[in-house]
Amino acid sequence: MKTLREYLEWAKEKKVAIGHFNVSDSEGFKAVVESARELSVPVVIGVSEKERSFLGVAEIRVLVQVEKDKGQPVFLNADHTYSVEASKEAIDAKFDSVIIDGAEKPFFENVMMTKEVVNYARTNAPEMLVEGELGFIGSGSMFRDEIPEGVSEDTQTTPEDAVKFIEETGVDLFAPSVGNIHGLVRSGEPKLNIERIKDIAKVVNIPLVLHGASGNTDEEVLEAINAGIRMVHINTELRIAYKEGIKKGMSSDELAPYKFMAEGVAEMKKVVTAKLKLFNKL
Ligand code: G3H
Ligand code: ZN
Repeated sequence: MKTLREYLEWAKEKKVAIGHFNVSDSEGFKAVVESARELSVPVVIGVSEKERSFLGVAEIRVLVQVEKDKGQPVFLNADHTYSVEASKEAIDAKFDSVIIDGAEKPFFENVMMTKEVVNYARTNAPEMLVEGELGFIGSGSMFRDEIPEGVSEDTQTTPEDAVKFIEETGVDLFAPSVGNIHGLVRSGEPKLNIERIKDIAKVVNIPLVLHGASGNTDEEVLEAINAGIRMVHINTELRIAYKEGIKKGMSSDELAPYKFMAEGVAEMKKVVTAKLKLFNKL
């Protein structure tokens, strides 16, 4: 089976993006894996620090390995990891990738912590990818009344800073701030800065990752992929679908969890399938 690095090359050649979906439990995992299997596309399972502490680091690692052993290209990302220590734990657990998130920190501090994680990964799990983030886009996959404080057009990542950050840290994947925001802004999501993505893609030669894609229109996301995005992260829209599905499942007298939880899985699958078709241009 191809590695995640090889699939990112494949995505570049095909001008598509790999779908990255966050899960917090085995139902979410099932929804993502089944959707990707039905479409025969690679997929990344994302677990942030809180998501993986709910699920269990070893447990999610095993769930993904079971799918890999069956031959399905399912990869595991330690999403938004705010400390070097927690990043090292994911590296020791041999995830496929880890995101060291220093985006809210000053440039120099972000570079230093990212560099430390890259070095640790190179020594302890050379095949593992490390993603760095530059430019704060808010944290948390939730409903928002307004754009998070500290996020504005002025804080979007410049091509110059992107190049400097990548050169200094040696990361394998890069997540810029390009009008994207974590969570769903109730009053309307800001637009993605497609020109900025193009400008960054021109000067950066590692895959670009679009975080916070919940709430952005299909047209915008497609434009972002055509501009050079090679991985797209979705969480909030999945959480909404899951909760709606479970509510439906719980509204009857049904007692079997595998029946009422199945409604949550079904609703999540609708979202994952639609996104995977979009990202993979199917
Ligand atoms: O890392 C996770 C994502 O960037 C999800 O963002 O909740 O806005 O879809 P989202
Ligand atoms: Zn994210």
